[in-house]
Amino acid sequence: MISKKMEKAFNDQIALEGTASFIYLAMASWCDREGLEGCAQFMHRQSAEENMHMLKLYTYLSEVDGFAVTPAIKQPPHSYKSVQDMFKAVYAHEQKVTASINKLTALATKEGDQTAFNFLQWYVMEQREEENLIRSILDKIKLIGEGPHSLYYLDKEIKAINEAELSKEE
Ligand code: FEO
Repeated sequence: MISKKMEKAFNDQIALEGTASFIYLAMASWCDREGLEGCAQFMHRQSAEENMHMLKLYTYLSEVDGFAVTPAIKQPPHSYKSVQDMFKAVYAHEQKVTASINKLTALATKEGDQTAFNFLQWYVMEQREEENLIRSILDKIKLIGEGPHSLYYLDKEIKAINEAELSKEE
């Protein structure tokens, strides 16, 4: 059993994760158009991961007799000034997700919903890892730069990071 307040907060989180999945999917499309194969692969994996985050919340709601609402998702932007600009947008969105998860765990405590609190700890850990990953990419972009020659190496670096992330999932 879940309270109506918690159910609404979970549905807001579902919308945020779904929005992240769409934002990253549109980023993959932009990267692909720019010939950034590694970045496109990274964004496709990231989009699939966010979709999984959304579905986990769906399943949870049905397990606790709640009702999961499929969100209306606004069309995300389809172009960026630079790779750095795109990853800055990813970082900003991840910070927004982290803040929302923190609010959700605080609400779970306030409502005395231990089941939700326990379930949400997985998201707390996931957000720490995701923010760290994106920060490390932003650091690499600063080091490598984004000139016409460095962009090729930057894309290769991001491809390697993506492959390392994929191997963690196996
Ligand atoms: Fe599921 Fe990266 O927020």
